[in-house]
Amino acid sequence: MDKQNNKIPVGILGATGMVGQKLIMLLEDHPWFEVACVAASKNSAGRSYKEALGKRWAQEGDIPYKTASLQVYNVAEDVRIIKNTVSFVFSAISAEKENIRDIEESFASAGIPVVSNNSAHRWTSDVPMIIPEINPHHLDIIPIQQKNRNWNRGFIITKPNCSIQSYVPLIKAWEKFRPDKVIVSTYQAISGAGKTFDTWPEMRDNVIPYIAGEEEKSELEPGKILGDIINGNFSPSTSVIISASCLRVPVSDGHMAAINIKFKEEVTKEQLTDALENYVNPLKGLDLPSAPDRFITYFEKEDRPQTYIDRELSGGMGISAGRLRKDTVLGWKCVGLSHNTLRGAAGGSILNAELLYRKGLINQ
Ligand SMILES: NC(=O)c1ccc[n+]([C@@H]2O[C@H](COP(=O)([O-])OP(=O)(O)OC[C@H]3O[C@@H](n4cnc5c(N)ncnc54)[C@H](OP(=O)(O)O)[C@@H]3O)[C@@H](O)[C@H]2O)c1
Repeated sequence: MDKQNNKIPVGILGATGMVGQKLIMLLEDHPWFEVACVAASKNSAGRSYKEALGKRWAQEGDIPYKTASLQVYNVAEDVRIIKNTVSFVFSAISAEKENIRDIEESFASAGIPVVSNNSAHRWTSDVPMIIPEINPHHLDIIPIQQKNRNWNRGFIITKPNCSIQSYVPLIKAWEKFRPDKVIVSTYQAISGAGKTFDTWPEMRDNVIPYIAGEEEKSELEPGKILGDIINGNFSPSTSVIISASCLRVPVSDGHMAAINIKFKEEVTKEQLTDALENYVNPLKGLDLPSAPDRFITYFEKEDRPQTYIDRELSGGMGISAGRLRKDTVLGWKCVGLSHNTLRGAAGGSILNAELLYRKGLINQ
């Protein structure tokens, strides 16, 4: 913990980006963590955070006072300096996957745990991909990862793609009814591409039916989250087949998912809503500051959840569901919603870090 205020000093790699900015906002008054170091590409390095950002600050309110004056370091070259300042780092870099893998490994091998938002290590066989309310037990692989790589204190954990949080919580809640096939269409906000309407004016009054790499991630990543660790490696679940169509829509924040689902078991609407509302949350009792009181909220009203109204549920960390009804093809259909830069990125990775802290995997 920081000597003056007893908070753990953390670094943010990719601090100038959309997710990096959200991390800075969410950590401003965090009870356990404090931003002690910011880093980005060589283009931003060497200047104060405020200068490096220029007009790119896209959050409500000003840059937090203490962070504005921090010097921006170069993620690729300043590992040693950053290591001496922080206990762990959040990674929110957007670059070539190979490049991100190298950067994250350079921090982990230097003894700095890396809590990543990136997809670069999501499929690395000894790196967990965590949604804390769904697969916290996957953190059991960390000692194996450290042994495999001869790392002492450092390790890497990831979180899934931002679309996943809108529908995988529902599939998990319904696991006992044995989901078999899912067709999901996602309606994804422009902040998911690190953009605003100012930086992406072509998105006004427009829908783009293609998001590079998104459908593959949306179909495959749930398998790892719902899978098991077998002989020290992840074995993805193959019990649910998912087909995804991912569309970019003119919304600032919030990813909505329309889900059609077939179960192997006969099931009623009451059983399905009951399973959502009474989700057995493994975080219960851990008292994590960013955890929502309720993981999944089911809305009975026909026109909910709505992106604009419901994306901020529980500080943007709650998952909304609604419109559960019979489907003529697969049996059931419904809608899910999550905030892509909060639950789906910065907030999700802060929750991951809080879980790591509670489990003693990160410390001073
Ligand atoms: N936005 C979302 O909703 C969301 C959700 C889940 C996951 N993610 C993932 O989170 C990551 C960040 O996304 P974002 O939307 O915040 O991206 P972004 O706004 O484009 O920000 C990119 C960040 O990466 C830095 N960077 C770029 N090239 C670099 C390089 N070669 N070496 C080191 N740093 C470099 C940039 O620094 P400079 O300013 O110096 O260029 C900036 O800080 C991505 O991997 C993305 O897939 C995003």
